Amino acid sequence: MANYNLLMIGAGRMAEAIVSGLRNKEETAFNSITVSNKSDQERLSKLKTKYQVHTTSDWKSVVHKSDVIILAAPPSAHEALFSELSNHLDKQLIITVAAGIDPSTMEVHLPEDTPVCWFMPNTAALIGKSMTTFACGKSIEHHHRKIIEHILSSIGEYEELTEQQVHDLTAVTGSAPAFLYLVTEALQETAKEYGLTNEQAKRLVTKMISGSAAMLETGTNADELRAQVTTPGGSTAAGVSVLEEQSLKKIIKDAIIATNEHARKSTKE
Ligand SMILES: NC(=O)c1ccc[n+]([C@@H]2O[C@H](COP(=O)([O-])OP(=O)(O)OC[C@H]3O[C@@H](n4cnc5c(N)ncnc54)[C@H](OP(=O)(O)O)[C@@H]3O)[C@@H](O)[C@H]2O)c1
Repeated sequence: MANYNLLMIGAGRMAEAIVSGLRNKEETAFNSITVSNKSDQERLSKLKTKYQVHTTSDWKSVVHKSDVIILAAPPSAHEALFSELSNHLDKQLIITVAAGIDPSTMEVHLPEDTPVCWFMPNTAALIGKSMTTFACGKSIEHHHRKIIEHILSSIGEYEELTEQQVHDLTAVTGSAPAFLYLVTEALQETAKEYGLTNEQAKRLVTKMISGSAAMLETGTNADELRAQVTTPGGSTAAGVSVLEEQSLKKIIKDAIIATNEHARKSTKE
């Protein structure tokens, strides 16, 4: 793979997840990685030492020698960043990881024919296990796609979708981990009510969830796995029927819809 120069604008958790993932790869597409932020020098020093990256608080001075630029700053910073970047760009590949900032938006704000891409990772990117959805702009070519997939694979699994699907599915891959953590809390609280220590409750529930995820990873459908655990008329069936009576599936779907409606409203604002 050819060697490119990467500039990251934003040096927070997601920037670190990507840098760390890239550093862990056996083969790298990047000659150099430069990380920048607005104000936090201490943070830059930490990243420099930990990942042997270059750092700068003046990203404009390195744009001209960068081939790929990842925007890992908050969504609210993007409009100003696009306007500043536009004066310095010469067909660099621009990627954003910001919620709501899709390729059409990027193409409107950046010079014509700028290759753009939108990644929607989730928090598991921090441990290289993100399920990232992504959508490409209209000027993405084969060699850009190779770089995009190189970066995506450094933080986990990925799936290319249409721009609208990335918007709609952000609730499932990005927000639903919070729903699962809420279920986890309920299970742990119940375990403690039966006399377990906090540590015991945490371990039991975490291992049960990771075992269930591993069963799903075998490719067996969720409904089949559920049927395997649920003997008709048995004790698990009694528990499942409470969840069905209280429309658990509808509650989850309503939570996804509420998440998407809120995201659409925030993007418009
Ligand atoms: N964390 C996640 O799980 C997750 C998942 C999906 C998507 N994302 C997206 O990833 C992006 C970054 O999130 P994060 O969790 O990494 O946030 P974070 O830890 O708060 O980091 C944000 C970074 O952006 C920098 N920054 C802020 N304004 C800037 C500007 N105008 N120019 C340059 N740098 C600027 C901040 O530097 P200073 O402190 O110096 O200002 C900081 O380094 C967001 O757009 C978020 O939507 C995050």
